[in-house]
Amino acid sequence: MKPKVAVIGAGPSGITALKNLLDQGINAIALDINQDVGGNWIYSEDSSHSSVFETTHIISSKTLSQYEDFTFDEFDPEVADYPSHDELRRYFQAYAAKFNLYPFIRFGTLVKKCEWIDQETWKITTEKAGEVQEEIFTHLVVANGHHWKPRYPSYPGTFTGEFIHSHEYKKAAPFADKRVLVIGGGNSACDVAVETSRVSKKTAISWRRGYRIVPKFLFGKPSDTVAEKSKWIPPKIRMALNAILLRIIVGKNEEYGLRPATESFQATHPTVNDELLHKIRHGKVKPRLDIKEFDGKNVVFEDGKVEEYDSIVACTGYWLSHPFFDADFIDYSEGPVPLYLKMFHPSYQNLYFIGMFQPLGCIWPGAELQSKLMAQELIGRWKRPKNINELSEKEVKNPHHKQINTPRHTITVDYHQFVKDLKKQLPRDYVSKSPSRAPFFHSSSKSEQ
Ligand SMILES: Cc1cc2nc3c(=O)[nH]c(=O)nc-3n(C[C@H](O)[C@H](O)[C@H](O)COP(=O)(O)OP(=O)(O)OC[C@H]3O[C@@H](n4cnc5c(N)ncnc54)[C@H](O)[C@@H]3O)c2cc1C
Ligand SMILES: NC(=O)c1ccc[n+]([C@@H]2O[C@H](COP(=O)([O-])OP(=O)(O)OC[C@H]3O[C@@H](n4cnc5c(N)ncnc54)[C@H](OP(=O)(O)O)[C@@H]3O)[C@@H](O)[C@H]2O)c1
Repeated sequence: MKPKVAVIGAGPSGITALKNLLDQGINAIALDINQDVGGNWIYSEDSSHSSVFETTHIISSKTLSQYEDFTFDEFDPEVADYPSHDELRRYFQAYAAKFNLYPFIRFGTLVKKCEWIDQETWKITTEKAGEVQEEIFTHLVVANGHHWKPRYPSYPGTFTGEFIHSHEYKKAAPFADKRVLVIGGGNSACDVAVETSRVSKKTAISWRRGYRIVPKFLFGKPSDTVAEKSKWIPPKIRMALNAILLRIIVGKNEEYGLRPATESFQATHPTVNDELLHKIRHGKVKPRLDIKEFDGKNVVFEDGKVEEYDSIVACTGYWLSHPFFDADFIDYSEGPVPLYLKMFHPSYQNLYFIGMFQPLGCIWPGAELQSKLMAQELIGRWKRPKNINELSEKEVKNPHHKQINTPRHTITVDYHQFVKDLKKQLPRDYVSKSPSRAPFFHSSSKSEQ
């Protein structure tokens, strides 16, 4: 049967999935509840899919955060080293325009239910402007993002001030003159603490463990490009060297009044921030330990300290969520996620996940390579290994990096290793910079493993 493919999402992952399917002459469309391309990078002050803030700039530099088919230099060479959310939105929309994807995207369309019928059939229920529709596709590509469903923490007692999640945090202005407590040590928490501290009466940040804060620049260069120079070194040794370099340049957490970083460098998703440590040393952000309990507006910390706050922003991460699947069909919310190359399901051959991995680096370059591999399979030029079940389990048991067992660490990959693993499966001429709409064809297949 000729493929007819539905892609859920027209964010950075969905558009590259669509582009690479269309490139191979495959009949494909994308469905997105948004009104334009960009996913998380369409900033809005109203509640939406997006979790970015007014001032968000990415944490991976532009050199390592671009599609090979359409680089930042081809888009706009003036884009900053660390682009803002708006530069990224424009970049993704320019990608969609360049490769003529817009006619193939149905906007304002919510995917409500995806039912797997057999290895050649999906029944997909959508809703657009109140109208519910069912449609049959041969393949389903899931690119719905994994930073939109807030994961709230819970503590004994009740907090009677304002309590929000970072997904709802949009800008600092509403926190003017308030006493703000930020929970978490990830990139959201550090960004939010820095921003609110510019206007608040007081800002504190509560960490349940110690994190290393990586500066955005080292030796005048974006830190990830400096780290890239050592990509030939095995990940474990490379990470140990990073930790030493950081200790020399930044110093110990204790110097800043922060909890010591007791885990290895790669044991948690990296936090990249140039301003937090500076704000702490200027007295604008106060480091605090974990929360023990609430009592009205009082927060009791692990060390017995009690302080009153007006607002709490829980920057405690996101659930992996696929609400269009029955929970007994697929539910990765608690992990593990046994998918070969984080994209191929061992049992459902007509199902792909694109962009559902967490690199120590940027997501969309890996999503682009995954998309090319998916397209290669659909035109019969690549065959999945027969022992895919075993390989998926192996990925779970032997991750690129051994990390602490907390919910955010179920889909981590090492950026350089992951890109290498994907490229190994692709033909040499995988980059395609002009829109091509090749007729569907079959030819000899390239099989690995
Ligand atoms: C504040 C913040 C900063 C970040 N910074 C970085 C960074 O520096 N580097 C990095 O690589 N990543 C970063 N991320 C992660 C971010 O999630 C990814 O960069 C990126 O957006 C992934 O693209 P995606 O297409 O997979 O998902 P998304 O951008 O989330 O796009 C998913 C799309 O699917 C659509 N969709 C979802 N469900 C449905 C449905 N049921 N029906 C119809 N449409 C649906 C959504 O509307 C959306 O358009 C950041 C995240 C946050 C919150
Ligand atoms: N500027 C940027 O580019 C930028 C900004 C924001 C976010 N992002 C990206 O967006 C993604 C999500 O980041 P995020 O910071 O929102 O979430 P995250 O990476 O999942 O971090 C969540 C933080 O909250 C902590 N936490 C979770 N539950 C907790 C609880 N019950 N009590 C106390 N602490 C708790 C986690 O601790 P553990 O260490 O124990 O897990 C971790 O420190 C990441 O990929 C990140 O890189 C990027």
